[in-house]
Amino acid sequence: MPEQANRLSSKHLLGIKDLNTKDIELILETADTFKDVINRPIKKVPSLRDITIANIFFENSTRTKLSFELAQKRLSADVINFAASSSSVSKGETLIDTVNNILSMKVDMVVMRHPYAGAGVFLSKHINAQIVNAGDGAHEHPTQALLDAFSIREKYGDVAGKKVVIVGDILHSRVALSNILCLQKLGAEVKVCGPTTLIPKYIHTLGVKVEHDLRKALNWCDVANMLRIQLERQDIKYFPSLREYSMMYGLNKQILDSLDKEITIMHPGPINRGVEITSDVADSKQSIILDQVENGVAVRMAVLYLLASQKQ
Ligand code: CP
Repeated sequence: MPEQANRLSSKHLLGIKDLNTKDIELILETADTFKDVINRPIKKVPSLRDITIANIFFENSTRTKLSFELAQKRLSADVINFAASSSSVSKGETLIDTVNNILSMKVDMVVMRHPYAGAGVFLSKHINAQIVNAGDGAHEHPTQALLDAFSIREKYGDVAGKKVVIVGDILHSRVALSNILCLQKLGAEVKVCGPTTLIPKYIHTLGVKVEHDLRKALNWCDVANMLRIQLERQDIKYFPSLREYSMMYGLNKQILDSLDKEITIMHPGPINRGVEITSDVADSKQSIILDQVENGVAVRMAVLYLLASQKQ
């Protein structure tokens, strides 16, 4: 287990907001070790064999849910999975009652995705277990930001000094907020790009510049993180049609090839091919989208391992 000096400053992982630069660097360095582990013939270590983790997902997920479960299994933790859609939540049980019932089965840690911003913070105040936020509404998605930072660091050797533009639906994106906080703490410069209606009014308070012209934003950056339009969180229309959004802010190969330099393309997934990114860009050699997914397992192993160490 890590020495005291190599411990996270927080008991939970609720958001990047709560981590300092040293915490983030410790997670990335620990993830380096776990990336080596998962590329060995025997991909498993016994580090969490005494720990039981519940993955409770109140919202759909492919990457985050599978990645956490695989990370837990690679660390030899016992794992239980809970999907709200097939649970007694539909019979009126509260979040606190639901989680307390799960915890009474001797669960140590909860990984939770929830549609409401602040759900993890709320839960951490009412239950006696460590919480990992796997995405809370349009608020934070800390492990996505950590795996994105890990992937940039892997590609360039360092995040400090890199220019990253986040393109698309910034207003409804937990990935955007967590990435902005994480990349800035690591010394990167971050801009956002999208239609005015999808850029939050408070964005300047985060020290982020706004560029509405996609081509200018791409010519400025080293890395472009292309976000999905989150139609499920939009109760009004923010642009005339997806076709028009795509014409203004979609990245295609013609634009990519016409830039002044070779940039790196990222996307947290799920991709809407032909909307924010075309297939030839998503599948191009400049795209590190599947590296992000691979790195997610190592980064989540690091987070779970370091949080479990807090209890020792
Ligand atoms: N990136 C991400 O959170 O993907 P999922 O919604 O599939 O977990």
